[in-house]
Amino acid sequence: MMGKFQVMDHPLIQHKLTIIRDKNCGTKEFREVVNEIANLMAFEVARDMPLEDVDVQTPEGVAHAKQISGKKVAIVPILRAGIGMVDGILDLIPAAKVGHIGMYRDEKTLEPHEYFVKLPSDIDQRQIFVVDPMLATGGSSIMAIDALKKRGASNIKFVCLVAAPEGVKALQKAHPDVDIYTAALDQKLNDKGYIVPGLGDAGDRLFGTK
Ligand code: PRP
Ligand code: URA
Repeated sequence: MMGKFQVMDHPLIQHKLTIIRDKNCGTKEFREVVNEIANLMAFEVARDMPLEDVDVQTPEGVAHAKQISGKKVAIVPILRAGIGMVDGILDLIPAAKVGHIGMYRDEKTLEPHEYFVKLPSDIDQRQIFVVDPMLATGGSSIMAIDALKKRGASNIKFVCLVAAPEGVKALQKAHPDVDIYTAALDQKLNDKGYIVPGLGDAGDRLFGTK
């Protein structure tokens, strides 16, 4: 079955995305707001986490209550820009482990190159949130998810802020089992592989490089 594709149109997410799209938004604000959006998105991405029944002793009696069950979470940012989303998600899921996959796009060929992989040892047992603000051609996310699956991971959701139609199509084709969540689906890629209108180079804007 094809994974879910969801554009998160909550007003708070849309408002905050507009703030970081603005080319006059500086590094400090960009960094803060990326984390705020990631936090709001994680709230929704976590919606289908399974619950189990639990009895809890309150000061007044026993409550037949619920707690999250099933697989524990790993957040896997694609370096560099994915790092900008990690703290916002950890605020909601503080016990999550964090793996890192280093990937850069060759500026000419747009081909992704993997340069770093460090994952929790029980990655095959975890519900994984792969995070990267930009889904452009899809090359980076496809290769990152390849790297995870090669290590036994199977339960994967991909969370980005801005996606291009080309990238969504490519990712769905390569990894039809992966749910994709984005805050916006933009028009297209330009001839340099940048999303239009997008928000520019997410890594440079987050870290103040360039
Ligand atoms: C950007 C972005 C994604 C990738 C998306 O990273 O953060 O990882 O490009 O493009 P794709 O879908 O066409 O692969 P970049 O390669 O610029 O590296 P950086 O995060 O280190 O700046
Ligand atoms: N990577 C970015 O950071 N921005 C884009 O628009 C495309 C790829």
